[in-house]
Amino acid sequence: MKTPSLLIRGAATLATPLGRSAVAGARQRAVQKLPGAVVRCQGEVIVFVGPESEHEGLFPPPDVVLEADGGTILPGFVDPHTHLPFAGYRESEFDRRLAGESYAEIAAGGGGIVATVAATRAAGEDELLALTLARMDRQLLHGTTTTEAKSGYGLELESELKQLRVLRTAAAHHPMDVSPTAMPAHEVPPEWRHDPDAYVRLVIEEIHPAIAAAGLAEGVDVFCETGVFSPEQTRRLLADARRHGWRIHLHADELSPLGGAELAAELGAASASHLLHVSPAGMRALAAAGVVAVVLPGVSFFLKERFAPARRLVAAGVPVALATDCNPGSSHTENMAMIMALACLGAGLSTDEALTAATLNAAAALGRADRIGTLEVGKQADVVVLDAPSHAHLVYHFGVNLVRHVVKCGRLVVENGRLRRPRSIAG
Ligand code: NIG
Ligand code: FE
Repeated sequence: MKTPSLLIRGAATLATPLGRSAVAGARQRAVQKLPGAVVRCQGEVIVFVGPESEHEGLFPPPDVVLEADGGTILPGFVDPHTHLPFAGYRESEFDRRLAGESYAEIAAGGGGIVATVAATRAAGEDELLALTLARMDRQLLHGTTTTEAKSGYGLELESELKQLRVLRTAAAHHPMDVSPTAMPAHEVPPEWRHDPDAYVRLVIEEIHPAIAAAGLAEGVDVFCETGVFSPEQTRRLLADARRHGWRIHLHADELSPLGGAELAAELGAASASHLLHVSPAGMRALAAAGVVAVVLPGVSFFLKERFAPARRLVAAGVPVALATDCNPGSSHTENMAMIMALACLGAGLSTDEALTAATLNAAAALGRADRIGTLEVGKQADVVVLDAPSHAHLVYHFGVNLVRHVVKCGRLVVENGRLRRPRSIAG
């Protein structure tokens, strides 16, 4: 079915970063603001952005008009780091943390990632699919039009494949685009604690090849951390990922300054996430290699930890992106606006920098900045209309959902804050 032409008009303003690759330093805050501008989508693509009077001279009347009613037109958000396909919740552990126990103490007692691994291994594929689609619905309602999502709660061949198949099925039945990442090296599974190096060999010799053969991943991520995977093991895992042609990502310098950022730069990673403890040398390395720093302020908030030095990363010339890290243990949210608020109030970004971080730079972290992340002619028509007169309200008016409409690939998928079409899973 042909996508009708769509004109989005009547906005107070349109705000967007510009470009087809990650931006850093002063360019991170160079957001274009066009009062009263309209966007025209033809098929899946943006064909015009600018004044309405100019549009009238150039194009015939559109098939559909979407009134922005004095709101703000933005590019759809891109969430470049999530762990969507998980089963089970950990709210009891959350309450224990509120009472003073640490994340590490709970993990040492059999909670933490390992608890989610047990629940995810036990879950049926249909159950995991339903949970994942529900999370994707919440993302879309909050303005996210493309998401990355990782496996990594399986930690053995069949369960990792199950998580990745769920992502493939979910992507086929949901308006959002999904960039799937294999993360069998999210944690050392309990059954390999006696010999983590043997698990690394298993990943390289069996798990990666099976995922590659099934064509289930675009990227690979590794949790490089003391007590998880060492820099040397991470290097081996990611060198293997390169051989499979996958994009590479790291969970780096989260709990200790282990040189994860330097390793990401050395390996030509697309992104390095967390970075709470990144060193000055690590920042310089990321900047020189053009690695996108994916800052996850939801984790800092949720775990009551320090925030990543987002201000210093920007000053060092590192392109900064933001992500939810949506997972049951360290950041249970699908809401990118909440993440932007935390990045501004906790980590010192400006609202313009946060917008670029949640759109263009997030797209770059997924190798998709040539197609999405800005409102420019030729890009995919992924557009959000806010019920607010500027994008600053995403931060200033925190904790509520200001997303009124979402257009995905030129089609209206969220209208007046509600999903437009009930999703249907065939078969
Ligand atoms: O991305 N940093 C490592 N892993 C996850 C947390 C996973 C969990 O607690 O379940 C993260 O934050
Ligand atoms: Fe993560």
